[in-house]
Amino acid sequence: MTAIERAIEGSVAAAGGDDPSRFDWQEAWYPVAYLRDLAKGQPTAFTLLGEDLVIWWDGQAWRAFADRCPHRLARLSEGRIAEDGLLECPYHGWAFQGDGTCDRIPQQVEGGTAHLSQRACARAYGHGDGAGDVVCVRGDRERAARVPLPLVEPVGDFVTEPPGWTLFDTFRDVPYDALTLLENVLDPSHLPFTHHRSVGNRSNAGPVELELQAHDRQGLPGLARPAGQVGQPVHAVCRALFDVA
Ligand code: FES
Repeated sequence: MTAIERAIEGSVAAAGGDDPSRFDWQEAWYPVAYLRDLAKGQPTAFTLLGEDLVIWWDGQAWRAFADRCPHRLARLSEGRIAEDGLLECPYHGWAFQGDGTCDRIPQQVEGGTAHLSQRACARAYGHGDGAGDVVCVRGDRERAARVPLPLVEPVGDFVTEPPGWTLFDTFRDVPYDALTLLENVLDPSHLPFTHHRSVGNRSNAGPVELELQAHDRQGLPGLARPAGQVGQPVHAVCRALFDVA
C-alpha cells in the first residue's frame, strides 16, 4: 500500500499536503543536519528551501525555529544557549523556550507582560530526529505528526551499519536548486565517475537498469544494477539535506 493509499485510509497523512493535484513543499519533513555535527551548547544556522533556520537543543529535544527574533529580526543563530537552557537573542537578550514562547525580556519593567504576547513568540517549526538526522517541517505541525519521517528502512538508525551495507555521510554545499539536486539523486549513471573510490568505480560505467519499486509522495526508491556487474544488485539510498537559497 502506498503512502497516498494509507493517507486515504486516514492512518497517516501524505507528505506534500492533502491536495492530490499539487505537492506543497512546506508539508514535508526535511533532514536538516546530522546529529553528530551539532553541538548542544550552541545554536546552528541552516537554510531550508530559502528560509534561514536556527537549530538548537533545549535540553529535551532538537528544535528548529525561523532564524529571526520577533523583536527586531536579529539572527537567533548568532545568539547563545543561556545558562537556563533558553535560546537567547544576541541583540537585546529576549529568551525563548523550545515551543517558541518568550520567557523573558530583560528590559521589561517588573510585572510587565509583553513577553506573554503572541507577537513575542519565535516561530517554531515541527521538529524531530531519526536515522541520525534532525528533521524539520515548516507546515502544519499537528498534521506533520501523521506524516512518516523520511527514514531509510533498510538502514535503521543510520548509526549501526547493517550487514551488507556501507554507510557514509557527506555534507557538501552545492550552489544549485532543489530540482537539479533531486535529478542528480535519481540518476545513478553518474556514480562510477563522481564517486570513484567511494561507492563508485569508473570501470563500471555503462548502461544502468533501474527498477522503480514505488512512486508516491514519500519518494522514489529503486534498485539499480550497473551493467556488467555480477552478483547482487546495488541498492543505494541517498538522503539529501536541503540547504537551498
Ligand atoms: S532583536 Fe532580539 S531581542 Fe531585540
